[in-house]
Amino acid sequence: HTKILHLLKAKTPLSGVRVCGWVKTCRNSKALSFLEINDGSCLQSLQVVAPAQLDNFEQVQKLLSGSAVAVSGDLVASPAKGQQWELAARRVDIVSRTDETYPLQKKRHSDEFLRTIAHLRPRTNKYSALFRLRSEAGFAIHSYLRDQGFFHVHTPILTGSDCEGAGELFSVTSRSPLFDRDVFLTVSGQLAAEMFALCLGRVYTFGPVFRAEHSNTARHAAEFWMVEPEIAFCNLEQNMDFAQAFVKQTVTHMVENCGPDMDLFSRFVDPELPATLDNILASEFERISYKTAIDLLVRSGTAFSFTPEYGNDLQTEHERYLTETVFKKPVFVYDYPRAIKPFYMRVNDDGRTVAAMDLLVPRIGELIGGSQREERLDVLEQQMDNSGLSKDHYGWYLDSRRYGSVAHSGFGMGFERFLMLVSGVSNIRDVIPFPRTPGTIEF
Ligand code: 4AD
Ligand code: MG
Repeated sequence: HTKILHLLKAKTPLSGVRVCGWVKTCRNSKALSFLEINDGSCLQSLQVVAPAQLDNFEQVQKLLSGSAVAVSGDLVASPAKGQQWELAARRVDIVSRTDETYPLQKKRHSDEFLRTIAHLRPRTNKYSALFRLRSEAGFAIHSYLRDQGFFHVHTPILTGSDCEGAGELFSVTSRSPLFDRDVFLTVSGQLAAEMFALCLGRVYTFGPVFRAEHSNTARHAAEFWMVEPEIAFCNLEQNMDFAQAFVKQTVTHMVENCGPDMDLFSRFVDPELPATLDNILASEFERISYKTAIDLLVRSGTAFSFTPEYGNDLQTEHERYLTETVFKKPVFVYDYPRAIKPFYMRVNDDGRTVAAMDLLVPRIGELIGGSQREERLDVLEQQMDNSGLSKDHYGWYLDSRRYGSVAHSGFGMGFERFLMLVSGVSNIRDVIPFPRTPGTIEF
């Protein structure tokens, strides 16, 4: 059978086509039945015109939304407005039917309701488009990184270390007899990726990561995907250059390859979406130090719920103020206080800050978190002591600084935050097929 996506691009009428899909709507007259069918290959449905001559015409007339059909017939020019082709059916096989208990009705359902039926929501136009975007975004990332000479490294999901040191580990087993260690789900593949950057040069890892964060927000999930490039012979400045190119190129890929699906979001979800993306593509991202960021926030005199203060992490409201009110474009904030960042970040000459960078973008807040890594063995050991990390457990990591250590840098981009950016969808729960956010584990 042929995909609707291909049929809609036909240059001439075609006879003897077979299409398999699901009924969106069914309208009847005495002599004809009009079925809108969709097969998930694209947003558009194909209109099937079934004549009364069909043996099972009466059964066809009773088809409800969500039923599965296989239609054979001819692709002909459609007299109806807004569509070039329709399928004149010679045969409609009813594969299976829904009944009136089917939860998806023709009306528009709220995102909140659809979250309660996450197993059915990809059947709606919005969510089918969103999950096609999600699929394409993965390809965009892999293909850009490959073009740039990166190798994809599969880093482990089960781990004994806490990369971010934030104590947000999901425990798999404590004192596993298999490993004689406590075993956790990984929060980031970075430490393992570093080992490979220090021999393959440019690598990335792209997979699921897990955080037992208690933040019940529209931007945090307990299970999400992260893409983490890691580059040898690269300092913080070059890391920011690369992160900017990476974001622009992957957004460009989406705009160029996902037109019809993305249009749906500009029409029904966020009318500002095209402007937001144009702005990202057109602008040179701002770069300010953490100290400058705090000064700007304090001097603005804005009444934030969390008072900005040197030494504390930026809150989402601060991130949005900087990107939406002050600069009106993406902003890199670099050189954070050493005390609030993980042990692996490179200590700056001032001894008080580290070579960290976060990329903040309008509407999303933090899209990327990264840094130049501490490549000096003695400083790294000192940092580990300060963080209370056991050098026995991290002997393998320290080896990379003992043997052939070089300046290197990398970052992690939250894949769901990227999807929120390119779709305008404002809740992370809606860009994940089966979200793992507080309270949702049943699917
Ligand atoms: O800033 P984070 O914690 O950085 C790291 O994990 C580094 N080890 C990455 C690296 O340098 N290789 O996380 C990186 C990004 C954030 O900027 C954000 O986009 C996303 O991951 N992120 C989350 N996304 C969804 N839900 C959560 N709970 C997230 N926590 C972080
Ligand atoms: Mg971060």
